[in-house]
Amino acid sequence: MALPKQVKIVEVGPRDGLQNEKDFVPTAIKIELINRLSTAGFRNVEAASFVSPKWVPQMADGADVMAGIERRAGTIYSVLTPNLRGFEGALAARADEIVIFGAASEAFSQKNINCSIAESIERFAPVAAAAKEHQLRIRGSVSCALGCPYQGEVPVASVVDVVKRFAALGCDEIDIADTIGVGTPRRTREVFEAVTQVFPRERLSGHFHDTYGQALANIYAALLEGVEIFHASVAGLGGCPYAKGATGNVATEDVLYLMNGLGIETGIDLAQVVEIGDFISNAIGRPNVSRAGKALLAKARSEANTCA
Ligand code: HMG
Ligand code: MG
Repeated sequence: MALPKQVKIVEVGPRDGLQNEKDFVPTAIKIELINRLSTAGFRNVEAASFVSPKWVPQMADGADVMAGIERRAGTIYSVLTPNLRGFEGALAARADEIVIFGAASEAFSQKNINCSIAESIERFAPVAAAAKEHQLRIRGSVSCALGCPYQGEVPVASVVDVVKRFAALGCDEIDIADTIGVGTPRRTREVFEAVTQVFPRERLSGHFHDTYGQALANIYAALLEGVEIFHASVAGLGGCPYAKGATGNVATEDVLYLMNGLGIETGIDLAQVVEIGDFISNAIGRPNVSRAGKALLAKARSEANTCA
């Protein structure tokens, strides 16, 4: 299949990235990060979670974050909602999109949201119905679509099954998530080939963590399957609190460099994102793991020194 001419990059660093920091990241830093990202041109930023603070204390300030950000017209600010209580928080916070998150692996479903896959779908049904009633966009995220930290191999049929169930709930978009970054391009193509049979290709996204260094290759494989939406995390922030050893999402700077090189439009200013990667890494005292980010930062700094 020909490569798409443009793609949507969903920046998930403020949520998927910062949820995994050991120390609580101050609300003001989260707000500044989100504001800077929307200024750089992201049309969709995953901003917060309305989950149990007992489970993920790092995201306990979701309401304050959402109240503090400057909304950029046309930008979708998404938040995670595991249940109706989360949905009520999201509604009060004026989120544009809610994310229900299930798994293609029973074991991960239990560890992450404390229920079976079937129970999770039952729990999501009223959340999805309430979102429809309030005309909020709904995204469904399918964790462990390319492998599970507890179960290992995840059959493609299990991924297809959850995608079908999310589709039946009325999801506008569905994420195929490689939670622990074990996927390879061949598996990625197999999974997308299968799920595009049951859900429109243009509303599927690739959410790749980079634990085994395969994320960019997997994105390229998904592009070849016609996928047009990808998630990424500035400076490669993150991991998953319920998937030990998993590293962050693929770094946004690396994805933008790839897309620019392929002539695929994103509408996002890479130079600004490189500076944002530097800002957030310094702000939370964490190494910047974006290869393109570090290279472009070094280049920009050395050019500035030469000119001075
Ligand atoms: P539970 O313990 O089974 O449910 O948790 P519960 O109803 O007994 O609730 C426990 C406590 O949390 C209670 O408080 C509730 O009131 C409270 P207590 O009575 O003990 O004082 N509570 C809440 N508080 C605030 N907001 C809420 C909420 N709900 C309950 N919405 C539950 C079940 C689903 C709540 C819990 O397991 C949970 O919050 N899990 C979230 C886990 C999570 O956020 N994981 C990371 C995000 S998923 C991810 O990163 C993957 C993704 O990136 C894709 C990929 O890479 O795979 C999306
Ligand atoms: Mg994730």
